[in-house]
Amino acid sequence: MRPVVTLAYAQTLDGRIAAADGTSRWISGPESLVRTHQLRSQHDAIMVGIGTVLADNPSLTVRHVHGPNPLRIVVDRNLRTPLSAAVLVDGAAPHTWLVCDAQAAPARRHALQELGATIITQPLNDESTFAMQPLLHTLASHGIRTLMLEGGSRLIASMLRARCVDRVAITIAPKLLGQGIPAIADLGITTMGNALCLHEPRVTQCGDDIWLEATVRYA
Ligand SMILES: NC(=O)c1ccc[n+]([C@@H]2O[C@H](COP(=O)([O-])OP(=O)(O)OC[C@H]3O[C@@H](n4cnc5c(N)ncnc54)[C@H](OP(=O)(O)O)[C@@H]3O)[C@@H](O)[C@H]2O)c1
Repeated sequence: MRPVVTLAYAQTLDGRIAAADGTSRWISGPESLVRTHQLRSQHDAIMVGIGTVLADNPSLTVRHVHGPNPLRIVVDRNLRTPLSAAVLVDGAAPHTWLVCDAQAAPARRHALQELGATIITQPLNDESTFAMQPLLHTLASHGIRTLMLEGGSRLIASMLRARCVDRVAITIAPKLLGQGIPAIADLGITTMGNALCLHEPRVTQCGDDIWLEATVRYA
């Protein structure tokens, strides 16, 4: 058993989730932001990689609609989350979980726990990364049934490679960046026939943005 995973992010029309300098605010318009917060409030937990915390310092709370905050989870192998990070110090409940390697510095672990963080230790695989399926099973064992994956590029790729994304809700903004951070890092797909297919896409307009929802079909 693992949680149902919804991948949700905002990209420019040319597939960037941040500019070359790492800035991503704001790709999408206010209407899409409201819809994203609605989606957050419908999930048990929300997950980002440490790269996103370092780049954006997001709160990951529900603010633009009324609704419960999901549990916030940061995939942070070496516990690099700053002690001043919004996900730790903004006072929102429930407290944030940090997923790290057992070798992460004990002093760091202690300092983060002092701020209320829950530290979840996961084994690393041969590539010194977390295998996503076991990580999701761990989350399920803690009662998490639905997970919203918000980024960034490398964590999204890890989850897609592990076939762990069930559906997508992608905001496509009418903006172009050329250079920038691609929405999805390398998936190891080199030929069109192996492209991941999105099933039964539903496209709606959200302010000036396009909102695309679909389920992911794995070969
Ligand atoms: N537009 C949007 O909707 C949106 C949403 C989110 C983020 N962003 C943008 O995305 C950018 C960040 O993306 P990113 O790719 O640099 O960072 P990221 O995906 O947020 O985090 C990457 C880090 O997460 C950890 N990680 C990811 N997969 C892992 C795995 N399988 N096992 C262990 N650790 C794993 C690694 O940390 P360690 O290196 O410490 O091991 C990795 O370096 C930012 O510029 C942000 O603005 C945009």
